[in-house]
Amino acid sequence: MITIPVALSDNPYDVLVGNGVRHELARVIPAGVKRVAVVTQAGIGISVDPGREHRVFEMPDGETAKTMSTVESLCSEFSRWGLTRSDCVVAVGGGIVTDTAGFAAAVYHRGIPVVHVSTTLLGQIDAAIGGKTGVNLPEGKNLVGAFWQPAAVLCDTGLLSTLPPREYRSGLGELAKYHFLGGGDLDALPLDERVAACVAIKAEVVVDDEREGGRRATLNYGHTLAHAIEIAGDHDLRHGEAVAVGLIFAAELAYRLGRISEARVAEHRRVVAAYDLPSTLPLGLRSDELIALMGRDKKALDGLTFVLDGPEGVESITGVPLEHIEAAIDAIRSEGDRS
Ligand code: GLY
Repeated sequence: MITIPVALSDNPYDVLVGNGVRHELARVIPAGVKRVAVVTQAGIGISVDPGREHRVFEMPDGETAKTMSTVESLCSEFSRWGLTRSDCVVAVGGGIVTDTAGFAAAVYHRGIPVVHVSTTLLGQIDAAIGGKTGVNLPEGKNLVGAFWQPAAVLCDTGLLSTLPPREYRSGLGELAKYHFLGGGDLDALPLDERVAACVAIKAEVVVDDEREGGRRATLNYGHTLAHAIEIAGDHDLRHGEAVAVGLIFAAELAYRLGRISEARVAEHRRVVAAYDLPSTLPLGLRSDELIALMGRDKKALDGLTFVLDGPEGVESITGVPLEHIEAAIDAIRSEGDRS
């Protein structure tokens, strides 16, 4: 088992990584908690033992369940059961569950402790770490939420072998991202150490910039184009697959801006290929549509802002000229889809 401290001054907590760490749950629940509301989805099918009185609350399956109405239902059910401020929520699942249950914990009785038992690769290296919680609105993803740090996070790597292959691949897109956020040759590490290395990178960034005033936005490396691809819709790409394409786009763009060498672009292509992830746009996506969508991304604070690699590492760059964006989009089109 590997322990990674998230050394926030107000809310320090540990992330435990390893095969079977979900069995540490009773030990990491805050002292004094008498009752635990376990929130999960029926499809997850993983039982946990909080070591004290508990009840399981199932939320519906799928991203469409990540809504205000699910939060309201959960809070009503907590209340009917008599959950108090000195009790605790335990979220068992991937990012949909930890985001939604984390938000319910953040607002129920103005905030009660939450522990995440993360069951997916994407959740273990990203969603469950760092205290971002929230739900979607019909108008967009993650538009309502709160920063609410967990009391502990358990990343049970033994569960990853049970994931559907595409769900696992989706996590690999985020893993590929960490290679360029200081992770280096992550693919040389055994799984537990690789997950722990990603958690350690994220923990360090979160401690430096908990509320995303600056550096935390670098965790969105590869995501500006990925979100545009996802919003353009109907392309059957999982989030992590879209992030992989977004990483190649970001490298091509940084190269055109003179920020990185051709060899560094090739390194991006090598890492994405090593995880067997896509590196080209889905067919038929128009550049003007993608550019308009990237401009709408909530992370684009001042005109077109991109998180780009460069001599000082990955950082946010504003005011990127349109012609370079168009050229970088063309560079990630497959043969036959070039304008
Ligand atoms: N997923 C990016 C962040 O937690 O900031």
